[in-house]
Amino acid sequence: CGIVGYVGGQSALDVVLAGLKRLEYRGYDSAGVAVLADGGLAAAKKAGKLANLDKELAARPLPAGSTGIGHTRWATHGGPTDANAHPHLDNAGRVSVVHNGIIENFAALRAELTDRGHELASETDTEVVAHLLAESFSSCGDLAESMRQVCRRLEGAFTLVAVHADAPDVVVGARRNSPLVVGLGDDEAFLASDVAAFIAHTREAVELGQDQVVEVRRNGVQVTDFEGRPAEVRPYHVDWDASAAEKGGYDYFMLKEIAEQPKAVADTLLGRIGTDGRLSLDEVRIPDAVLREAQKVVIVACGTAFHAGLIAKYAIEHWTRIPCEVELASEFRYRDPILDHRTLVIAISQSGETMDTLMALRHAREQGAKVLAICNTNGSTIPRESDAVLYTHAGPEVAVASTKAFLTQLVACYLVALYLGQVRGTKWGDEIQAVVKELAEIGTQVEEVLGTMEPVRELARGLAGKNTVLFLGRHVGHPVALEGALKLKELAYMHAEGFAAGELKHGPIALIEEDLPVVVIVPSPRGRSVLHDKIVSNIQEIRARGARTIVIAEEGDETVVPYADHLVRIPVTPTLLQPLVATVPLQVFACELATARGNEVDQPRNLAKSVTVE
Ligand code: G6P
Repeated sequence: CGIVGYVGGQSALDVVLAGLKRLEYRGYDSAGVAVLADGGLAAAKKAGKLANLDKELAARPLPAGSTGIGHTRWATHGGPTDANAHPHLDNAGRVSVVHNGIIENFAALRAELTDRGHELASETDTEVVAHLLAESFSSCGDLAESMRQVCRRLEGAFTLVAVHADAPDVVVGARRNSPLVVGLGDDEAFLASDVAAFIAHTREAVELGQDQVVEVRRNGVQVTDFEGRPAEVRPYHVDWDASAAEKGGYDYFMLKEIAEQPKAVADTLLGRIGTDGRLSLDEVRIPDAVLREAQKVVIVACGTAFHAGLIAKYAIEHWTRIPCEVELASEFRYRDPILDHRTLVIAISQSGETMDTLMALRHAREQGAKVLAICNTNGSTIPRESDAVLYTHAGPEVAVASTKAFLTQLVACYLVALYLGQVRGTKWGDEIQAVVKELAEIGTQVEEVLGTMEPVRELARGLAGKNTVLFLGRHVGHPVALEGALKLKELAYMHAEGFAAGELKHGPIALIEEDLPVVVIVPSPRGRSVLHDKIVSNIQEIRARGARTIVIAEEGDETVVPYADHLVRIPVTPTLLQPLVATVPLQVFACELATARGNEVDQPRNLAKSVTVE
């Protein structure tokens, strides 16, 4: 979901709509706007994409005004209908509010309001806020104070932005969990869930902390806590510009982001490997002594970031000999995990705002564990609440399905694993040295893979009519198979499953039928060659049962040639680093299949880029 607010000299409607457009990548299923004009308030909202709202505005234009708010909603309470879309208004139509998150005590508040004679028009939790604000405002006459009074009554996670017809030239915001940023322009100001919404106007921003209320006027902002105590205003300069969030000539953001991977990987390595091959992760403020003493590593993450965690486990356990568990963040705190001050928890998140991951890290810290975040978004909530952070430098990732962020998460995980190995001085010292050298060059190999993707695209187009694709892998190839399957579900809306190839005989082989496409990620024949030989047998087994085999194998591996209906070559890498090159063809494959099936690549149905609800 996305929030935009504006007060200044321009048309609020134009600024807000353009801002919402820039936040589209967050995923949404309805949208709406409200502007203060002619002493009143006018609003429009529509289910579906922004184009629907544009049509509505063309048919029924709003009066021009210079203060306004807008919202893109991803349905939680109540389906994605016109009525449930934000903004929500009070009965008199004087106050208008947009909201991200969930108000947990909304049913009680709703009952209370109904008793007092309010009529609620939607099924949403948000609407109660509009009514409560209207009541408070009629007694105190100050919108920021009304917001504080209301916030003190709300339970759950919420970020709110509101305007009132009797408070022209003011936009008020409140933040509990999901992000809210202020943009400070020249005689104008912005409020948004992400700087991308106002980057075309200003790069000067102020970040709001947890449980703060902000009053935004043309010439400045005032920040307080929910009790009204003034809070410190922390301005910062945004170090990327609008062009970084543009498609740059590609048809889709996802294509651009896939192509940016060599640079993203190189940027994430930059300055972290010394000329002597030693790692320096200065920003990891957790003292080396704590890292040396750690008895267990637990990784928590969701979606694609979880797959990065699964791969990290192999690296961490191999190079450091510390036991490592990987857990879906949404499951973690509900099973009473065993944690103490000798547990290092690693929270991986592109956005830094995923609520499941945030809750998992809070739980870990309450139990005394140290938390290291691996994150792509500066100043977001997850790094702010962690003991330390290692930033991935992928740049803004706009397409909902994660690509370059995933590769940089892998790089960051390898850096952490190698650093832990370095600090703890394991017997793998020589191997670590060799791998560090290879890792430093890996961007070039990702580039090589990108240069050979045309046959993969052609293959994908040929499979557009299929219903199912299976993915098989062993060792680090197993999480790669899971990620390949996830990409296909997200983008092509196809039934896709990833399996550990060794499990095939225990069930999944029953799925194999004539011409079923099966993608197999083959480990290097060097190093752990038993793995390689076993998977070659697996390929033969499925092919004998009619599967159409799509084999991803290292250059020079000739053993697979007779059993591959389609062969995709990847460069030679150390086994543990192979996911960095093996994932790329799977991303291209899913993207091309989505296009061939006529799906929206950057914003797949039902998905949100940043899921700020549990
Ligand atoms: C959402 C996105 C996924 C992403 C996951 C975790 O579900 O659709 O693409 O992998 O969240 O996001 P994070 O920002 O925490 O990495």
